[in-house]
Amino acid sequence: MGGALQGPPMKLAATAEKSAALHIRQAVRADVPALIALDEEVTGLAKPKYWEEIFDRYGAPRRQPLFFLVAEQGGRIEGFIVGEVRAWEFGSPPCGWIFAIQVRPTTRLAGVATQLYNALCDAFRRTGVKKVRTMMARNNQLILSFFRSQGMMAGPFIELETTLE
Ligand SMILES: CC(C)(COP(=O)(O)OP(=O)(O)OC[C@H]1O[C@@H](n2cnc3c(N)ncnc32)[C@H](O)[C@@H]1OP(=O)(O)O)[C@@H](O)C(=O)NCCC(=O)NCCS
Repeated sequence: MGGALQGPPMKLAATAEKSAALHIRQAVRADVPALIALDEEVTGLAKPKYWEEIFDRYGAPRRQPLFFLVAEQGGRIEGFIVGEVRAWEFGSPPCGWIFAIQVRPTTRLAGVATQLYNALCDAFRRTGVKKVRTMMARNNQLILSFFRSQGMMAGPFIELETTLE
């Protein structure tokens, strides 16, 4: 992603055309084609295998604390969020991790991502965790602005990496 902020310029444009209520619910397998199409609309890359695998891992009903939530309005998926509780990674007590969030470009700045984020945080809270973490590209100012708006700040860990020859 580049550094430029994305999204529609006006909040009203995004809200006025929608009259049906926004509904946050667990993703189901029938959503997968719409999720793949939404991701392609946002990123310009079609990754059907990736999203099918993510759904198999996070969307199918199970007891582990994995979450794949969608925001649906008038029968159309407007956004989604994926996260999980990870325990003792880097010596850290169990915490919620958000690793994907996307909202349809024409539906942005209308609070959809905030509702998805709040629903995921409620789910995390019910598991008993006290922290929520995420990671993003350093130059992705849009996603950084969003997470900062939710009260997230730099945490105590830093990422290191190397290239394998
Ligand atoms: C980031 C994203 C999820 C936000 O979705 P959204 O539904 O528009 O977000 P919300 O309407 O809930 O916005 C909440 C707050 O985020 C911040 N924000 C969102 N979009 C912003 C923008 N274009 N510019 C500046 N701040 C922005 C604002 O503080 C906003 O609060 P405000 O409307 O009161 O100012 C959406 O823009 C998106 O899908 N972007 C691409 C995501 C991406 O890069 N994903 C890859 C990593 S997983």
